[in-house]
Parts: sequence; C-alpha cells; structure tokens
Amino acid sequence: MISKTSLGMIAAAMFGATLFAAPISCLAEEPAAATSHVAPIPPPQDWSFAGFFGKYDQAQLQRGFQVFREVCSNCHSADHLAFRNLAEPGGPEFSIEQVKALAAQYKIKDGPNDAGDMFERPGRPSDYWPSPFANANQARTANSGALPPDMSVLAKARGIKRGFPWFIFEALPGFAYQEQGADYIVALMNGYEDDAPKGVTLDAGQNFNHYFPGNKLMMPKPLSDGQVAYTDGAPQTLQQYAKDVSAFLMWTAEPKLDVRKKTGFRVLIVLAILAGLFYATKKRIWADVQH
Ligand code: HEC
Repeated sequence: MISKTSLGMIAAAMFGATLFAAPISCLAEEPAAATSHVAPIPPPQDWSFAGFFGKYDQAQLQRGFQVFREVCSNCHSADHLAFRNLAEPGGPEFSIEQVKALAAQYKIKDGPNDAGDMFERPGRPSDYWPSPFANANQARTANSGALPPDMSVLAKARGIKRGFPWFIFEALPGFAYQEQGADYIVALMNGYEDDAPKGVTLDAGQNFNHYFPGNKLMMPKPLSDGQVAYTDGAPQTLQQYAKDVSAFLMWTAEPKLDVRKKTGFRVLIVLAILAGLFYATKKRIWADVQH
C-alpha cells in the first residue's frame, strides 16, 4: 500500500513542486494531518526584467528600495549592498546627491582613531548597508530564535526549480525562467493566514504561510495595504509593495542583469555573423573540388 505521505513525496519529486529540502523532510517526519500543506509553486508574476530583452524598471526599484528601507531592513541585513550601488546605472539610479544625503542619515562604526578607539561617523556612499543587529545572536534573540537571512542575494537563493519537463525547455535560449525567486517573495508576502488551518498547530512565534516550505514561518506578516507612503502615485497595496520589493531584491542579487542580457544578445549577433562568414569561406574553399 502506498500511503498518502509517500504519494505526496512522489508527486513533489515528479513535478518538482519545490526543491527545498525542508518540505520533503517535513513530509516524512510530520503527522499525516500536516502533510496536505506543502508549499505550492508560487504563481509567476509579470516582471519587466524577465525574458530576452528584460531590464529593471527604475521607478519600481526606487519604490522597492523604499519598502526595503522602511520595513524589511528593520530585521534583515544586506551586507553586500553599498550606498553607492543605489546610484549606479541599471539600478534604482538615485542621484549621487540623494545617495550622499541618505548615507549621512546612518551612523557607521569606524576606527580605530589615533587614540585607538572605535567611533561612529555619518555614513558615506562607499559604506555598506548597516545591519539592524550587531551580530547573528542578537538578531535571533530579537526574532524568537529565528535568524532573518541576509537580503543581498536572497532573491536568487530562493529560486524554485520546476523539474521535468520544464528543465528541458529551460535549457533552450529564450525559454529560461529565472524569476522564481522574485515570484516566491511576492507569494510569501501574500501567503499569510491569520489562523492556521485545522490540524496545524503553531508554536509560539510561528506564523502560517502557504508558500513557506513547511508552512510555519517565524517572520510575522511584514506588509499590509497602505503601510508605505509612495510619492509617485503607484498603488499603495500589499501586492504592489510585494512586487516592488521583490524587484529590488532581484536587483541587489543580480545588479548586472541588464548588462548580462545585452552582452548575451550581442554575442548571439556576432556568432550569427561568424556563422555566415564561415559558410561563405567553406563555399569558396570547396568551390573547385569535384564532388
Ligand atoms: C520583524 C522582523 C522582520 C521583518 C520586518 C521582515 N522579516 Fe523577513 N524574515 C524574518 C525572520 C525572523 C525570518 C526567518 C524566518 C524563519 O526562518 O522561520 C525571515 C525570513 C524571510 C525570508 C526567507 C524565507 C525563506 O524561504 O527562508 C524572506 C524572503 C523574507 N524574510 C522577506 C522579507 C521581506 C521582503 C521583508 C520586507 C517587506 C521582510 N522579510 C521583513 C524577520 C523579518
């Protein structure tokens, strides 16, 4: 007899429901009641940076940065993000004056000075984004024991593989799908449930989320409608915040995406020209050979 649990595991493996190790091991360990809540594949969103010619939407990155700064960065660090990156081409492209003013609002630990003491000074564009906590233990203590992961490459670290047969198509140029991480973050922001479904018990500090593998997440619902005041007239809704911050996190994870796509396209053009030249050369060289 195949139990419900093993059927679930086979289905998850076959359809590549998720490649996270967590849900599969949870399936094996948890009582049958909880096994029906396996994280579903996040619905694909419409991203400006998807596809062959995709590139980031600058206004969206600016809004996403605002959400990151006002909400997420209270708990999450972004160690690889420097203030100056926010002014670089292909990113949110704030002006260097804006970035200087922004950095100056933060206190950065520096030193030692001549007397050997560490000191605090206002931030500069070359500084990295300051962490909300002094160290991982402090971050855990403030978050009921869970460590909020660093956001620098989080969008890329949460890519969900779609399994057979998709990976065959994805190997072909133009079919690759690289936006699962951003889709997942949007789904995660929208995936909270006030009360856990019947049969699921949450421990202290846990929240029920449909899209988190295992469903029990220590992060409280971070975004709600109307929470962040946009200045560019974009809708102030949970869905819009979720999309904007996910786009921003995709940019922090892959700031050179625009350049990569442009270079790839140029390489294809060069290869096409070369192929034509080789063909003409071959014709020429073999022209007088009897065959
Ligand atoms: C109150 C603190 C807090 C805030 C604010 C917060 N987070 Fe988190 N976040 C956490 C903690 C704690 C975890 C680790 C959860 C766990 O392991 O159960 C986490 C985990 C995550 C994860 C990883 C989930 C996974 O698959 O492992 C993502 C993605 C995430 N947060 C996104 C965000 C975004 C986007 C924002 C801002 C809109 C945000 N968080 C705001 C505390 C926070």
